[in-house]
Amino acid sequence: MAKKPNGDISENEVTDESAYLSRRSLLKGFGAAIVGYHPSSLLSDQMALAKVKIRSELDQMIAQKINSRAKADPMELLDVTPYRYASSYNNFYEFGSGKLDPKKNAKNFVTDPWTVSVQGECDGGGIYHLEDLVRPHLLEERIYRLRCVEAWSMVIPWVGLPLARLLKKFKPRSNAKYVKFETLYDPTQMPGQKSLFSTIEYPYVEALRIDEATNKLSFLAVGMYGKLLPNQNGAPIRLVVPWKYGFKSIKSIVKIEFVEKRPNTTWMKSNPKEYGFYSNVNPSVNHPRWSQATERRLPSSIFSPNIRPTQMFNGYEDDVAHLYRGMDLRKFY
Ligand code: MTE
Repeated sequence: MAKKPNGDISENEVTDESAYLSRRSLLKGFGAAIVGYHPSSLLSDQMALAKVKIRSELDQMIAQKINSRAKADPMELLDVTPYRYASSYNNFYEFGSGKLDPKKNAKNFVTDPWTVSVQGECDGGGIYHLEDLVRPHLLEERIYRLRCVEAWSMVIPWVGLPLARLLKKFKPRSNAKYVKFETLYDPTQMPGQKSLFSTIEYPYVEALRIDEATNKLSFLAVGMYGKLLPNQNGAPIRLVVPWKYGFKSIKSIVKIEFVEKRPNTTWMKSNPKEYGFYSNVNPSVNHPRWSQATERRLPSSIFSPNIRPTQMFNGYEDDVAHLYRGMDLRKFY
């Protein structure tokens, strides 16, 4: 995020995948379109053969559910970004700082097996296999707007579970005021972590206040567009906080820690004047080097820039404004 992006993917790169999506009727007007399905069938003896198998079955189940819903529900078309864009135009500095680097460099990223270490001020800490964390939960699809601090945006159908539901399992103590997240640190797999020119420190760290983390919109995604998350989008599990700038939505999480004091997060450390702890989407507080009043909704090109006004809290004001009541959002940016 050292500078604004200057290159987009051209229109002709959109594949059938986008046709599949635009055929689907998607909820309009809702910040979160929620479809629940219970993965319990995944737990049948047959499918529980191996953890690897469970993940590929999960993928199939998600896809089937979405296809059948498309036929059943007479919903309006929402402005969902074609899969091709969402999975090729990425920020994932561990795999390079160019928008097209993550897809190229994360091809062989190993995400299975995967464990998440839960630590700090909680009674349910430990090291958990990803499957064990996800399996007991009702997976949902949520169609959320994603607004990057660089002033581009997308609309992405994520599949996963509310963060609050998972955090409850870890039994946070009353002195846990913040939840801190960490991305994998593995320079052998993540070339960006070896780069001498990196603008950020690794491992990538993000954090939320506990009431933000347990807000109903905070989400942990294991899939998108009815499939498992592609590596470049933060496989196998990432955070999605739709009312904040995209950099709060940390990818490939290996550690969750409950802490008393506000953690120093990656982008704050890199440039505290430009990237605050809260980083709520706010059209009236500009980035020191560019305006946040508008955004480019992808796909966009010089002929069709697709510029639109940015909404307060990215349009999720009704659900989150109360979290910041009485706070001066110019100060707490
Ligand atoms: N998480 C990690 N670990 N490393 C990153 O570089 N980039 C962030 C966020 N999560 C990033 C990350 C930024 S700046 C954005 S805008 C979103 O991921 C982009 O998510 P996407 O590539 O799935 O669109």
